Amino acid sequence: MKKKSNIACSEKTISESKQQPAHPCVLVIFGIAGDLTKRLLYPAICNLGRRGLLDENFYIVGVAVEKYTTRTFRAQMEKDVQQFVTDPADKKFGLAFLNRIFYIAGDFTDKNTYAELKIKLNKLEEQKASKNCLFYFAAPPEFIGTIATGLKNEKLLNEKDGDYFRRIIVEKPFGCDLASAKSLNQELLTYVKEKQIFRIDHFLGKETVQNLLAFRFSNGIFEPIWNRRYIDHVQITVAETLGIGLRGAYYEKAGALRDMIPNHILQLLSLITMEPPVAFTADYIQDEKSKVLHAIQVFTPEQVLHQAVRGQYGSGKIDSVEVPAYRSEKNVNPESLTETYVALKLLLDNWRWLHVPFYLRTGKRLPTRSSEIVIQFKSEPAILFGGAGKNIMPNLLRIKIQPDEGISLRFNAKIPGQSLQLGQVDMNFKYSDYFGIELRTGYETVLYDCMNGDHTLFERAEMVETAWGIIQPILDVWSALPPRDFPNYAAGTWGPKEADNLLNLDDRAWIL
Ligand code: BG6
Repeated sequence: MKKKSNIACSEKTISESKQQPAHPCVLVIFGIAGDLTKRLLYPAICNLGRRGLLDENFYIVGVAVEKYTTRTFRAQMEKDVQQFVTDPADKKFGLAFLNRIFYIAGDFTDKNTYAELKIKLNKLEEQKASKNCLFYFAAPPEFIGTIATGLKNEKLLNEKDGDYFRRIIVEKPFGCDLASAKSLNQELLTYVKEKQIFRIDHFLGKETVQNLLAFRFSNGIFEPIWNRRYIDHVQITVAETLGIGLRGAYYEKAGALRDMIPNHILQLLSLITMEPPVAFTADYIQDEKSKVLHAIQVFTPEQVLHQAVRGQYGSGKIDSVEVPAYRSEKNVNPESLTETYVALKLLLDNWRWLHVPFYLRTGKRLPTRSSEIVIQFKSEPAILFGGAGKNIMPNLLRIKIQPDEGISLRFNAKIPGQSLQLGQVDMNFKYSDYFGIELRTGYETVLYDCMNGDHTLFERAEMVETAWGIIQPILDVWSALPPRDFPNYAAGTWGPKEADNLLNLDDRAWIL
């Protein structure tokens, strides 16, 4: 199963579905001058625009404290497009679109900022812009409530059903623990209805992540064995080679656990473990995801000590290049106790997954960039093969999220020759072989869905709280018992040795 010609890949089976442009709207980005816009949001907008998926009356208004004017901000964006938008056609769109971007310099705590925004939106409306608004909160969690209050006071959040919408998009992290996530939900729900809130997780916009449900529920051969009878355990790895870069100030407060687990990684876990939904619609999918989140065993303090591992990178080498320790990065405390690595062993208390361990790990400055889900099936009895039986390995299904997106199945085969020798081979599917490579960030899909009011890829209030509830005991124990061995892994290695022990104690090992 290698190249396009080998499988049923006719025009009928694989064809790019034709999408319509999204509903018209003005995208208001709070915190537009930050990293997120230039690295991810604007490249995603350029990609949508180039593919004809933005309405012709689409505009962007940015609000941030930095002292730009619209003119100087556009000039800065021009440089950013050159640097961060790699596809030439996307770049062309991005540069041409700059004159549809407006900038308001203002403090989020100042009510004049919102008054000025209202004037700008009214002016744009006179120039045919839509009354639909998407307010994107790309700001630290402590400002979310403040921004919502400012918008509410100017009546900018009132929508009129069937006439125009007002939606808010909240970037992760949604709160910084269970209590703050709950109070943020409560606060937002006093200003807007749940259907107006889009809690964004860009992992869910990645093609391979979306493919998880298609893969599971459109192929009859996997679902019958997708349970505790046949699956030994599951590993989810999100490994990054990058360090903290310019995000030290944010990361010092967040750490790897908050940054990656309650959102991206639990989302992957829920897609892998959920039951089939009644239909592929937002409510039904969210219902099933929510059920598996509720089934995850919440750690006791004792379990935190045995089933959760934290680490922080020291200096080391990535691709033969020396890189500094976390504590030497910009805006990081030289004695920082923030973790840059986390590994967990989770169990689910439900019929399908009882006693199947889920090992999760994520970290910065690991040897390779790789996000992958590995499903290890139970071993077959080896009695038929005599001495060769010792080489039988369990079947592995590997779902590669990024880079080199694809799926492979590892199985045992006879090595050619007179004697019976067994080895492992892979059946490989690579996205690029069938669909070409498209450089997308994941934000394209989630932004497009917000414009169209489709909640399928977003989380409900209660789901965000359940996810925080799962990691809260870890946060509590870790803050009560500060680590004494940081830094405990060198950049360019696979994390602290305790992470290996987590699996070795169960007679298992990380599959790299
Ligand atoms: C972000 C985290 O949400 O996801 C980052 O804050 C992380 O720390 C990033 O690097 C990973 O996303 P991607 O799309 O680059 O794999």
